[in-house]
Amino acid sequence: GIGFSSQFNSGPHAYDDEQTGLNEQTLIRFSFVVAENTPKGLAAQKFAQIVKEKTNDHIKVELFPNGSLYNETDEMEALQRGSVQMIAPSFSNISEVVPEWMVMDLPFAFHNEEDVEKAFRGKIGSILQKKLESNGMVGLGFWANGFQQMTSNQRPLIHPEDFHDLKFRILPSKVIESQFRQLKARTYPIPFNQVYRSMESGDVDSGENSISNIYSKKLYQVQKYMTLSNHAFLGYGVLMNRSFWNNSLTSAQREALTEAMQETTIWANQNAISINQKQWDELKRMSQLQIHILTEDERAEWQQVLEPVYREAQTFIGKELIGAVNELRG
Ligand code: LMR
Repeated sequence: GIGFSSQFNSGPHAYDDEQTGLNEQTLIRFSFVVAENTPKGLAAQKFAQIVKEKTNDHIKVELFPNGSLYNETDEMEALQRGSVQMIAPSFSNISEVVPEWMVMDLPFAFHNEEDVEKAFRGKIGSILQKKLESNGMVGLGFWANGFQQMTSNQRPLIHPEDFHDLKFRILPSKVIESQFRQLKARTYPIPFNQVYRSMESGDVDSGENSISNIYSKKLYQVQKYMTLSNHAFLGYGVLMNRSFWNNSLTSAQREALTEAMQETTIWANQNAISINQKQWDELKRMSQLQIHILTEDERAEWQQVLEPVYREAQTFIGKELIGAVNELRG
């Protein structure tokens, strides 16, 4: 397999490349906060492998999982100043630098994974891409994790009233803050690798995340209840430092990386669906979580309470994006 350890075996080596005129291996350092066995971790390994093959090992993608190099509080800055060449933060984390990305955090905006892909292929994707470039970054692609579910250790989350006064760990996003404000819950932005401890200690009692993150981070051990709500989507923008992209790579290398990203993305977004499905089955089988599957009527109650989020979001992300997302919602 393509384990992370194999990435560290061969150091940069000299070679003579007539096509590119380069005589050193180009190194792309790729940092992310989740573990290897996650949709993003597996996509990153796949990408590194395809790049290695396509460039005859002339470009090496070195992976730094588990926030070992940077975590989400500093990875955007590290990318912008070029300390790392590549990251894949969640939409919410990107929105701290590029607020328009909050459009992807809107609750009940996407019915399924295809809707999310459609958003990226269309007007929403092209607006988000442009905004990255004016902030010193290039968007190479979008990788899915999956739909988010609600968890708590206080009580089952079935009706909007059940959220009152609960302490939710959230990703940093004004749209997510607004979502929980409508539900009258409190919010605490906490980095991913501190979530388990915060839930264990009771600093927070509730959260929202994908099945894959709830499973791989063992959050089910520190939460009692989960509602399968699919209320929002967790996904990642795959970002590269713009001046590295423009100035440190040849056009042939950019082409190879673009192709590698396209191949990886098709594979990764299918793989994300099957990982989340498999781990949902596992959670039901082996965890102590008390699981509630949101009914259609309950979903309608949540949607009604959360509708004002769209109005608030318009002030952060503008009319055009709200219009585009409403078109998608139908
Ligand atoms: C989270 O912090 O919950 C996620 O953004 C982590 C991740 O990258 O999947």
